[in-house]
Amino acid sequence: MSKEEPQKLPKIVQKKSKAMRLDPGVYYYCRCGLSDTQPWCDGKHQGTDFQPKKLVIDMPQEVYLCMCKHTLKSPFCDGSHRKI
Ligand code: FES
Repeated sequence: MSKEEPQKLPKIVQKKSKAMRLDPGVYYYCRCGLSDTQPWCDGKHQGTDFQPKKLVIDMPQEVYLCMCKHTLKSPFCDGSHRKI
């Protein structure tokens, strides 16, 4: 990817969700797929059309995060990885 050609589609990290137990807090989910700290944003979306998704967790809970980056319910898995 170059600066002249912004990334239009997210990079597929893996074609299955990632189950995580999250403590209360604020998280920034990577939507571009370029982060080295998946599933969280590390700033590598700069220069693309993507922005991280803010996720606020109020109580400890298990979540299933989208890792194909094609979900329509970001940041949560909606099964889209089965269709790509
Ligand atoms: S690094 Fe992917 S959204 Fe920030």
